[in-house]
Amino acid sequence: MSYIKKILEGAAVLPFVKIPFAVRPLSPEDNIRRDLADFGRMLHSQGFVAATDGNLSVRMDSNRVMVTPTGVSKGMMEPEDMVVVDMEGCKVSGCSNPSSEIAMHLTIYNMRPDVGAVVHAHPCTATAFASAGLALDQPLCSEIVITLGAVPLAPYATTGTHGLSESLAPYIPSHNAILMANHGVVTYGRDIRQAYLRMEAVEHYAKIVLAARQLGCARSLNDSQLEELFKARSRYNGNSH
Ligand code: 13P
Repeated sequence: MSYIKKILEGAAVLPFVKIPFAVRPLSPEDNIRRDLADFGRMLHSQGFVAATDGNLSVRMDSNRVMVTPTGVSKGMMEPEDMVVVDMEGCKVSGCSNPSSEIAMHLTIYNMRPDVGAVVHAHPCTATAFASAGLALDQPLCSEIVITLGAVPLAPYATTGTHGLSESLAPYIPSHNAILMANHGVVTYGRDIRQAYLRMEAVEHYAKIVLAARQLGCARSLNDSQLEELFKARSRYNGNSH
């Protein structure tokens, strides 16, 4: 009897091997949902968020953004938890309410057509700089000069208000990472991976700056070294975070 015939008759061909059901291929929307849940878990596992801190979003098309729900642990989200909003922040679909910081995300998308994803978190060292009133703008490491440049400090504004968008606006066009005074960090990029990696880079750099200053002799790169680095920037293949 052929295998096909046995299957049709319901006979076990391979008794201990489960034949899987056909799996529906993931749609582009499914992929965004999964990415937001995955990178939320990354933020949490790296200690960049605690409790219900932080939020992430992805631009779906010219009219819609998918964003994490408000008030949940970003390390415990499921793909179906995500919320879709229009460019005014009105909910299009989803069971929960969108992040309380959705206005900040939309401001970045409106000002930067090249941006496809935004990540907001409270990583300890970078947030300590933001709470001490210190920008991360000392050119100490060549890698950071090339990939991220200076990370400015936006003035304090209340979380979830229009004022927060206003405080960030002057820095959005020319930076991909901003410290938010007494609050945290926002990073963005062409996709969620790049936006997330920029968050990692900011926190890593903050740790290096702190350690160098603790050693008492944090030496900046000089003007000619910086000029050489800017020339190298266009050639640098790792300009991805
Ligand atoms: P949401 O849970 O509303 O996104 O807020 C978290 C946060 O970090 C606010 O700054």
